[in-house]
Amino acid sequence: MALVTMGPMLKRAQAARYGIAAFNMIDYNSARSIIEGANDLKAPIIVQVSVKTIKHWGYKAIATWVRMLADDVDVPVALHLDHCSDADVIRRCIDAGWTSVMFDGSALPFADNKAQSEAIYAITEAAGVGLEAEIGAIGGVEDDKFVAEDAAILANYDECVAFVSAMPNLAVFAPAIGTAHGFYKGTPKIAYDLLERITATIPIPIALHGGTGLSQEQFDRCIAGGCAKVNISTMHKHRFIEGFVNLHAEKPKLAEPLPFIVAQYDAMKRDVHDMIRAFGSEGKAVHAAGEGA
Ligand code: 13P
Repeated sequence: MALVTMGPMLKRAQAARYGIAAFNMIDYNSARSIIEGANDLKAPIIVQVSVKTIKHWGYKAIATWVRMLADDVDVPVALHLDHCSDADVIRRCIDAGWTSVMFDGSALPFADNKAQSEAIYAITEAAGVGLEAEIGAIGGVEDDKFVAEDAAILANYDECVAFVSAMPNLAVFAPAIGTAHGFYKGTPKIAYDLLERITATIPIPIALHGGTGLSQEQFDRCIAGGCAKVNISTMHKHRFIEGFVNLHAEKPKLAEPLPFIVAQYDAMKRDVHDMIRAFGSEGKAVHAAGEGA
């Protein structure tokens, strides 16, 4: 299938209370494991890309790989730019064929974040591309950004309402609700009450950042509370490395590269299957007319 925009798939997911996995791809092999893993389970999927990864491979290579892989499967695939505060990178992604982008102005004062998010919204709406925008501060490390545990800030409810008021067609909204990027050191204190308050009044699907390490119960409660996009990066990276390292430990004399690539693919794809099942999106691929990018 041609790539799709993520807004409609996320609206369906939120309405039926399941989550769509959004994995941060690393290379071609990783993108393949994400897309083919979703196809195995007939699940819609989001392939998202960190700015660092784009800077390494280039816009064209990534867009070409993902488009080509999506063409060969029968499930909706969206290509998304993860946390980005640079309007130029956003524009280049749109020009290269990304079907959605995230503007992350969460480090800015509220009024500046709102104004800049709205300026990007005008660009994405004109281009027919979905937008994700964030408020509050999600803890942990993502790309080159680090937010210390004591600097993480829950989104403020009144600010959430004001923030989205001029962006009714936002594809997904990312308020900080207590989850963090990276492996959790303790049990995260997720503000389920805040999540439910937000989804009771704001009719926009919610993104759950910091998916790595959450329990099934935490996923279930967040998805029941309206989280429709569930982000997984750290565990995917971990599987990428583990696939290689475990095979090397098992067969230290093996000098052929392809078995390592296959081992990485298998390790990443197993996790893609596990997460899709955990989020309830198995069998939820829908082919809707007019959603192609
Ligand atoms: P994890 O690295 O904790 O899986 O979080 C991913 C994420 O939210 C990407 O934006």
